Amino acid sequence: MNKIVHIIFILFLIYHLNIMIGCTKEKAKEIKKTTTTTDEQLLEEAAQTNLSYYQNGNLLDAASGSPHGSFKLRFNATAKNVLEKDGELPAGKQFPEGSLIVKDIYKGGKLTLYAIMKKTLSDDNTGNGWLWNEIEPNGTVVFSVGKRGNGCISCHSQIPNRDLIRVFDEH
Ligand code: HEC
Repeated sequence: MNKIVHIIFILFLIYHLNIMIGCTKEKAKEIKKTTTTTDEQLLEEAAQTNLSYYQNGNLLDAASGSPHGSFKLRFNATAKNVLEKDGELPAGKQFPEGSLIVKDIYKGGKLTLYAIMKKTLSDDNTGNGWLWNEIEPNGTVVFSVGKRGNGCISCHSQIPNRDLIRVFDEH
C-alpha cells in the first residue's frame, strides 16, 4: 500500500515538472521576436507587380552624385498612404513600418537592378530603421541586406532628411 502511494506521488511530481519545463520553453519562444529578412525575400517583394509608380512611372535621370543610374520608383500601399497629393512625403514625416520603396534601375532600356528600402524596425538586418538591398532581377546580390545599409546611409542622410529618402528633394 505504502509503495502505491509512493509511485502515485512520483508520477504526480513528474507531471508537474513537465508542465514547468513546457512553460519555460514557451517563454523563450516569446522573447525571440525579431526576424531576419533575406536578400531573396526582398527580391520577391521587389518583383511584385502591384506597386504604385512615382511620377507616373516615367524614367528619371539620376541626380548628380547619385550612384544608381536612370530609374523608375515604386511604392507599396503602406508607403503610398502617407504621400501627399503631389506624391511626396512632407518634410519631417516618417514612413510607417512595412513601407517598401523599390528603385528599378534601367540600362539601355532594360531593367538591370533593384535598389530596395523597406521600413522595418525590429529586424536583425535593420540599419537606421530601414532594410537596404541591391539585387538583380535574376537573383544576383549586389549589396546584401546583411550589411545593414553600411555605405548607403551616410549619403541618404543628407539634409533635408526626409526619413532617409532622397528622391523627393531631387526629382
Ligand atoms: C552617394 C550617394 C548615395 C549612395 C551611397 C546611395 N544612394 Fe540611394 N539614392 C541616392 C539619391 C540621390 C537618390 C534619389 C534618386 C536619384 O536621383 O538617384 C537615391 C535613391 C534611392 C532609393 C529610392 C528612395 C530614395 O531614397 O529616394 C533607394 C531604394 C536607394 N537609393 C537605395 C540605396 C541603397 C540600397 C544604397 C546602398 C547600397 C544606396 N541607395 C546608396 C544617393 C545615394
